Amino acid sequence: MRRADGELQTALVTGACSGIGLELARQLAQLGYALVLVSNRPAELQQVAGELAKAHGVKTHALPMDLARPEAARELYEAVSSRGLEVDILAVNAGLFFFGEVADADPVKALALLQVHVVTASLLCVYFGRQLRARRKGHVLITSSISAWRDFPGIAFYGASKRYLRSFAASLRSELRVWGVNVTCLAPGATATALYDASVVPVGLARRVGVMMEASQVARAGLEALFRRKAVVIPGLLSGVMAFLASLTPQWVVDLIRRRAPWLPKP
Ligand SMILES: NC(=O)c1ccc[n+]([C@@H]2O[C@H](COP(=O)([O-])OP(=O)(O)OC[C@H]3O[C@@H](n4cnc5c(N)ncnc54)[C@H](OP(=O)(O)O)[C@@H]3O)[C@@H](O)[C@H]2O)c1
Repeated sequence: MRRADGELQTALVTGACSGIGLELARQLAQLGYALVLVSNRPAELQQVAGELAKAHGVKTHALPMDLARPEAARELYEAVSSRGLEVDILAVNAGLFFFGEVADADPVKALALLQVHVVTASLLCVYFGRQLRARRKGHVLITSSISAWRDFPGIAFYGASKRYLRSFAASLRSELRVWGVNVTCLAPGATATALYDASVVPVGLARRVGVMMEASQVARAGLEALFRRKAVVIPGLLSGVMAFLASLTPQWVVDLIRRRAPWLPKP
């Protein structure tokens, strides 16, 4: 993979402690980018920052932060600015997931998901987007999901927020491209990461039989698309087919599955 551009120096990755975010950070470090790493577990984040700095000889900054707090985006921007850093690549990647119908949802979890996926993600693009636009260069990578390709009862908070991110990325792309700033939407399908509760989703088995991708493959596809200034990338043939089929499946089929699924509550 080739760097975006020789002048671009620093990448900020949210959700950098694990999964796709960790792989984005690792691959950006391999390309020589200094890193600002954000997630909510200070000790693990510090360890990741230390390992990547040592392995790739780049500067890393660990900024532990709960991105579910309403003021997180502003505080993160201020923390980055106070270190004298300017972000060239913003990877808005942090996310969380839970199964369950809306009427059964834990309001605290639902609020955290909406804050991280919708509020903080959008406001990070306000603060850093303003700076990228003023400097007339740089990239934004927004992690959505193939679940953005239709309505998903049973994961409504997750699916609807990822639809929002897909749409937001497309609008932001139009707004920023005239200023020389690229925005790419990364829409992974099932990927073997800690996003899923391993007691509910057999991640290890799914990875072995090839229905879940590796986080490293997803990150690579995301960065290659970013550097080619593509609008959207769905990594992997299977995920592309799933997104296509999901978009074509009539709602009555989904409702039928919902009525028959043994794990869902019945009236
Ligand atoms: N895995 C999949 O099948 C799949 C498919 C489509 C899209 N995606 C998307 O890919 C992105 C990365 O997920 P992943 O699969 O790599 O899962 P993951 O390994 O669980 O990574 C999620 C990251 O988000 C961070 N995060 C969550 N809530 C946070 C909060 N309140 N404050 C700060 N950081 C927070 C986590 O940080 P901590 O270290 O603090 O926990 C973690 O580093 C997510 O947006 C997800 O929706 C994943």
